[in-house]
Amino acid sequence: MSTCPDIPGADSPYRALPISDHVYWVGAVDWALRDFHGYATERGTTYNAFLILADKVTLIDTVKRPFADEMFARIASVIDPAKIDVIVSDHSEMDHSGCLPDVLARAPHAALYASPNGVKALTDHFHLAHPILAVKDGEQIDLGNMALTCLETRMLHWPDSMVSYLDADRILFTNDAFGMHYATAERFADDLDPAILYHEAKNYFANILTPYAGLVLKVLDRLQGLALPMDIIAPDHGPLWREDTESILGWYTEWAEQCPTTKALIVYDTMWGSTEKMARALAEGLAAGGAQPKLIPLSGSHRSDVALELLDAGALLVGSPTLNNNLFPTVADVLYYLKGLRKQNLIGLAFGSCGWGGEAVTQVQELLTAMKVEQVVDPLKIKYVPTGDVLARCVALGTQIAETLRARTQEHNDAEV
Ligand code: FEO
Repeated sequence: MSTCPDIPGADSPYRALPISDHVYWVGAVDWALRDFHGYATERGTTYNAFLILADKVTLIDTVKRPFADEMFARIASVIDPAKIDVIVSDHSEMDHSGCLPDVLARAPHAALYASPNGVKALTDHFHLAHPILAVKDGEQIDLGNMALTCLETRMLHWPDSMVSYLDADRILFTNDAFGMHYATAERFADDLDPAILYHEAKNYFANILTPYAGLVLKVLDRLQGLALPMDIIAPDHGPLWREDTESILGWYTEWAEQCPTTKALIVYDTMWGSTEKMARALAEGLAAGGAQPKLIPLSGSHRSDVALELLDAGALLVGSPTLNNNLFPTVADVLYYLKGLRKQNLIGLAFGSCGWGGEAVTQVQELLTAMKVEQVVDPLKIKYVPTGDVLARCVALGTQIAETLRARTQEHNDAEV
């Protein structure tokens, strides 16, 4: 085990922040984070940890290890960390579990709880001698004068993930769910710009939770069925939801349903401008057909921005020049990233200009097929510079795709009525 950091002294700038009658926020703000698993985090993030002053003093999650001093200083501003009796690990990923060994070194008598999968994951991460107690789905942890109820949320977004509910203060601690990467000095969402909250929560969902959208819907249904009174939804990243819990729950429902829409994303790169000309002509056709095209030139766009835009799109059109018999590197990067995110309900098209060979268009087509993107028109591959006839064909294909999008959206809306 690595050396446990010293507890910062009383001159530390870090203080715990009360969020309810019995709970303090004792997390850390990571203003500098700009990448999280390949997802661009331009606003940084927070690692939220929570201290419950129950009969049994309880810590919910920890922080990424480089921020151990900040977390310990915040805890120490309220209580000696050695007095922690219970630690609940809602998720084993190291942005939340990174300081567990340090907390156990300070509070060796503490009982450490995790989901059954969490026990396995924490064991494989830290190889601790300290016992890890499995808490089953729906089981309560007795804190003396209050209780925590744990609910498994497997694959949101790791197999071990769970949420925990504090009955006394009506707080649902949700770990990654309902969070966002957004470093701020404010701790509550209602103190922040709603437009930024929507953007960053959607960005988080798009880049982290899209593959598990079906499971998100099941968790939302379960929470609705349990009808837990929730004064606060407390995720482990970004602000806490207090007066606006319905906002984030509603947004999650919208994003998880992945209904067909008439938004069409055209993602492309270009070598000498020809694939770009095709992209722009396709956009004209899509708009003429009643769709809402959005072009994303990959020469200046990050893969996670594409994922964000794709979350509420109904079509994905991908254009690539051929370079050395392969996809253009930026296109390859984005397509492999999107393939892992498994966005549903998409139609699409592969297109591009080449000099000879033209393997990239075929490779785009194959990747779209692997992504289960329904290709309602044949791929469009041209040599060198597009003629007026080729651009007219792009316009016609765009219009055809728009008509398909409108029909699918209408059919979905009719079925909803
Ligand atoms: Fe914030 Fe899955 O860790």
